[in-house]
Amino acid sequence: MAEEILRITGGQRLEGTVTVNGGKNAALAIIPAVLLCNEPCTIENLPLVRDTQALADILVALGAKVTLSGSSMTIDPRGVKSAVVPEEYACRLRASYYFVGAMLACFHRADVSYPGGCAIGNRPIDQHIKGFEALGATVNTDRGVISARAENGLRGAEIYLDMPSVGATINIMLAATKAQGNTIIVNAGKEPHIVDLANFLNAMGASVKGAGTDTIRIRGGRPMHGCTYAIIPDQIETGTLMIAAAATRGDVLIRGALPTHMEALTAKLLEMGARVDEGVGEDSIRVRSDGNHRHVNIKTLPYPGFPTDLQQPMSVLLSTARGTSIINETIYEMRYKHLEEIRRMGGVSQIKDRLAIIEGVPRLTGCAVTATDLRAGAALVVAGLMAEGVTDIYNVQYIDRGYEHLEEKLRSLGARIERLTVED
Ligand code: UD1
Repeated sequence: MAEEILRITGGQRLEGTVTVNGGKNAALAIIPAVLLCNEPCTIENLPLVRDTQALADILVALGAKVTLSGSSMTIDPRGVKSAVVPEEYACRLRASYYFVGAMLACFHRADVSYPGGCAIGNRPIDQHIKGFEALGATVNTDRGVISARAENGLRGAEIYLDMPSVGATINIMLAATKAQGNTIIVNAGKEPHIVDLANFLNAMGASVKGAGTDTIRIRGGRPMHGCTYAIIPDQIETGTLMIAAAATRGDVLIRGALPTHMEALTAKLLEMGARVDEGVGEDSIRVRSDGNHRHVNIKTLPYPGFPTDLQQPMSVLLSTARGTSIINETIYEMRYKHLEEIRRMGGVSQIKDRLAIIEGVPRLTGCAVTATDLRAGAALVVAGLMAEGVTDIYNVQYIDRGYEHLEEKLRSLGARIERLTVED
């Protein structure tokens, strides 16, 4: 069977200007949220990646009309009558479970098959279910389907999350927007895309306050209307490009990026010896490096801590830094699979439970490697760019889930990267 790979000839310095896409994770929350109003909405700055396409496919399967024009998607939800997301759609990505919150709000019922997504550890949904139940729903998860019912409608409640789960915060926000009365989410996630969803809900007429802090207050049951809304820049794509710039001794100006979302990564790049400048009067970040990096320690944490989604590319940068770096992955228990591939490229690392201990080596050497999840794929791209020789990356479909035109962008900065079709 034929498959696509990315072939990178490493060692080229990245130089120039690049623009980031709209946020994938923000889009994944906002697309299902359109169901909450009974009028068309236009979402601008949408990243055209496999995950956003998968959610659009679900909307179409439910009866919505979806039209794309460049990076704008117009969704007309008026034809949606079904509250069932079948397995062949739900399994394509994790965010399919946002349809539970959105459909419960609209139809007081939802049947969504268990979501897919990256295999990076156990990913329970108990906090989502706790939230729906607090709002008055009954939830059954037998036979691989999340079945939620609220025959008498949803009513506002105070919900304390055991951990600031991004997904549970978003799902509860979606459901609570149409509940009768006030909902308070305590220990909520503070990620930028949670704030973006709140801004989108408010643009549709909802009343969501406090997003970006650990307490979100939602006044439910307000009339909702269609709107046009532009998605924030992608925090993780920005970070991946920042790391790639440092990894190649490059000088890259990243436009359309929000420096305030990047503070944890910026702090670590500065600590390593790279130079990071925030654009004055515009949303941009410039990263420069001479490649002479010191080791640093990283602990992944909910926002505003160091994002777990950047841990994998960052660990590759650390693999050639002077000294020993220690990574503590506190969010997921299985997010080091990429390091096995990096070892094949000459990297030296040990895994001890949640810790990865990385001994810096002078260089990585290209070889054939396989992506095991989305951000592992991004990490391997960074590795290929900084390695000596040729790196072939297999399983590129993971990368396509979250990065739009990645190879074109990197090529425009001077990388030697091409997409090839090879026989198995
Ligand atoms: C979102 C992001 C993902 C990122 C993650 C952490 C999207 C579409 N995806 O994923 O890219 O890596 O945030 O920043 O936005 N947990 C529970 N019970 C729950 C929910 C979560 O125990 O009900 C645990 C999970 O197992 C995990 C941790 O909480 O260990 C983080 O999960 P969560 O914040 O919910 O991440 P996601 O929304 O899945």
